[in-house]
Amino acid sequence: MDKTFYISTPIYYVNDVPHIGHAYTTLACDVLARYKRARGYEVSFLTGTDEHGQKVETAAKANGETPLELADRVVKRFQSVWEKLNISNTDFIRTTQERHKQAVTEQFRKIEAKGDIYLGHYEDWYCTPCETFWTETQLLDGTCPDCGRPTSKLKEESYFFRMSKYQDQLIKHIEENPDFIQPKSRRNEILSFVREGLRDLSISRTSFSWGIPAPENDKHVIYVWFDALTNYISALGYPDDKDGLYKKFWPADAHVIGKDILRFHAVYWPTFLMAADLPLPKKVFAHGWWTVEGQKMSKSLRNVVEPNMLIDTYGVDAIRYFLLREVPFGLDGDFSHSSLISRINSDLANDLGNLLSRSTAMLGKYFGGVLPQAGTADEIDTAFTARFPKAIELLDKQYSDMAFNKALQTIWELISSGNKYIDETAPWALAKDDSQKERLGTVMYNLLEAQRLIALLVAPFMPDTAEKMLEILGCDGKDVTLDGHDSWGGLPAGTEINKAQPLFPRIESD
Ligand code: ME8
Ligand code: MG
Repeated sequence: MDKTFYISTPIYYVNDVPHIGHAYTTLACDVLARYKRARGYEVSFLTGTDEHGQKVETAAKANGETPLELADRVVKRFQSVWEKLNISNTDFIRTTQERHKQAVTEQFRKIEAKGDIYLGHYEDWYCTPCETFWTETQLLDGTCPDCGRPTSKLKEESYFFRMSKYQDQLIKHIEENPDFIQPKSRRNEILSFVREGLRDLSISRTSFSWGIPAPENDKHVIYVWFDALTNYISALGYPDDKDGLYKKFWPADAHVIGKDILRFHAVYWPTFLMAADLPLPKKVFAHGWWTVEGQKMSKSLRNVVEPNMLIDTYGVDAIRYFLLREVPFGLDGDFSHSSLISRINSDLANDLGNLLSRSTAMLGKYFGGVLPQAGTADEIDTAFTARFPKAIELLDKQYSDMAFNKALQTIWELISSGNKYIDETAPWALAKDDSQKERLGTVMYNLLEAQRLIALLVAPFMPDTAEKMLEILGCDGKDVTLDGHDSWGGLPAGTEINKAQPLFPRIESD
């Protein structure tokens, strides 16, 4: 079996600062990367930054710096926020890196040599003050959607990619690979878009210069999407492949993106790859859009939620949990501090935190903190322990569907059943009767072993919390391997387990 896994985030523009939208995509990829690693896969997990184009050029000019100076400054903000969010990416690609420029140039050459890139004229609506081309449909009553001033029709020399040629091949690919574009509703949107007909695509500009020059014609810079999309292979060392990463990891298992850029990933990118005779990624997953307290997030509304601030206020694992628990992956969602706080208090402090503090406290009181042997299982014990293998199997399916919120529900059902098991077995009553000592031991063993498994299962979502839990349970907190560790009974009797401090203090909301 192929035990490699390659997952990518979009590469983010450096003319914006990281916010929860970017954090959401990156986090989802991180969770899947961690899960696959725990299942013994060799994982390549790529993120990075998209640094070329007119917007960056203009922003840099306004700041009195070069585009590269601007990029160098902003890229650090992305890198540091990913570190703070515990993102386990294995590489970080910047489109200004030499390895990327080489791959883009080569990709352009290859497709041009095949006859699928040609020089022509691009005609569209131009806003002179903004120096930006707009398509007919982007205009607002004939005016520039950015500044509202009048636009005029302008002609510019441009290279074109013969995208029209790949229409049928793309339709066929989407039809034959039902999982290629997810979720399903998005797949249908793309299919009908492609069936309406693909036009050739302008892939160069002469109106600005911050980009990768077209080979043999440096009047043109390669248009941002042809440049940007190539990152997924340039990071693997394409085309030279000196380290064999391209051979090992391409085609990607999943490109995870927001729904805003699905067309680029599900139409442009596959046709570029077809033209270059390269295999297509196995899956493109477009998740939904976050609003904030019911409003679109934007700089001008000053409601941009920055992950740094959230992590400082609520802690990294609470944020990781909330973002993936609150909204089904694929649907839109709304961020609010009140729903975040209620999730922290009910799911994390109450359900997860209490289970651990209650059971470790009882173990201290009844067994001096030394884990007893489990005795004969009653019906209630078997019903409880049998939930685990079932949940673990279900989780694997939920991960492959990228159903993160369902995966968390599955884990939380285990946690709730743990709390219920305490209520139903009433260890405090057993403790009053000496003849029930063995029975009490069985209950305590099951409770703590359940939490070893729960820790392993929450680890992809909440790595710090899992580490803390495992250390409390006398295990190696850094080892979150699932294969070989996920069957019942891994915690040895005799383990010393101290009373746990609360994992998540309750937050008083106001
Ligand atoms: O589009 N809700 O970069 P970008 C959910 N450079 N996700 C959001 C979001 C929100 N409100 N806002 C942003 C680009 N995102 C290109 C990509 S890839 C070859 C080139 C996330 O900085 C989401 O993943 O505008 C979206 O697709 C991405 O950020 C856009 O990032
Ligand atoms: Mg964007």
